[in-house]
Amino acid sequence: MTRHMRTAFVAGATGYTGREVVRQLRQQGVRTIAHVRPGSRASGWADAFRRWGAEVAEVAWEPEALRGAIEVARPDAVFSLIGTTRARAKREALQEADIYDAVDYRLHAMLVDAVSATCPGARLVYLSSMGADASSRNPYLAARGRAERKLVESGLPWTIARPSFISGPDRDRPRRMERVSAVVADRLLGVAGIFGAAGLRERYRSIDNVALASALIAAALNPAFAGETLPGEALQRLAAGQA
Ligand SMILES: NC(=O)c1ccc[n+]([C@@H]2O[C@H](COP(=O)([O-])OP(=O)(O)OC[C@H]3O[C@@H](n4cnc5c(N)ncnc54)[C@H](OP(=O)(O)O)[C@@H]3O)[C@@H](O)[C@H]2O)c1
Repeated sequence: MTRHMRTAFVAGATGYTGREVVRQLRQQGVRTIAHVRPGSRASGWADAFRRWGAEVAEVAWEPEALRGAIEVARPDAVFSLIGTTRARAKREALQEADIYDAVDYRLHAMLVDAVSATCPGARLVYLSSMGADASSRNPYLAARGRAERKLVESGLPWTIARPSFISGPDRDRPRRMERVSAVVADRLLGVAGIFGAAGLRERYRSIDNVALASALIAAALNPAFAGETLPGEALQRLAAGQA
């Protein structure tokens, strides 16, 4: 069974995954609000979003402003696709000791609070990461784990995606090392598949933004995925239309 999605709000719309989620939502005729932070280095995407028929909400990451934008949009699906990297945080001169807490956790938490306060029936789809674990000593995985917990405890209908590498030939420069790692890992996993470890290959192989976006949208549309955490192999299946 598929539910109907009338309006979607996409936080992190300018990212590699976010821009493709916006494109596919519009292709499916969903009213789409693309959130772009003021001063974003990727604000050029706003023109593309408008060309595709999306609305652009250029709203600061501040609780009241965000709450206002979501209240006006009245989405029935919200995509949380934000996150930083060490390279990006350095470029932006982020002063925080824990950049993942400041961006990956706190901005996501602000979004969860804003949606809970204004549209408590909206499904929130959170793009997390393989290995997310609030008790991890790795600050990135710990922030992702706390972000997942924040969502699960919010009372909102939720779906969590945990891909391994998100990569494709058109991946942006700052994440080039991830692209290289993904290509190497995919080759090794291809060999593992030949030797019978196909389940392992499906879980860990990389996913590109087109496949991931279609999996996230399909998960948002399917009531069976409310309250589910989707690992890599589930995302690959959803992207292939096999769920
Ligand atoms: N890449 C991977 O292999 C991988 C694997 C598993 C999970 N993930 C998680 O999935 C998320 C999305 O991945 P992606 O590759 O689509 O990310 P991406 O291309 O790096 O996009 C990140 C998004 O977050 C926003 N953002 C970054 N720093 C911000 C800040 N300080 N304040 C407000 N917004 C900020 C960006 O906005 P601007 O464009 O304005 O900077 C952009 O819209 C990641 O954050 C990541 O942790 C990634």
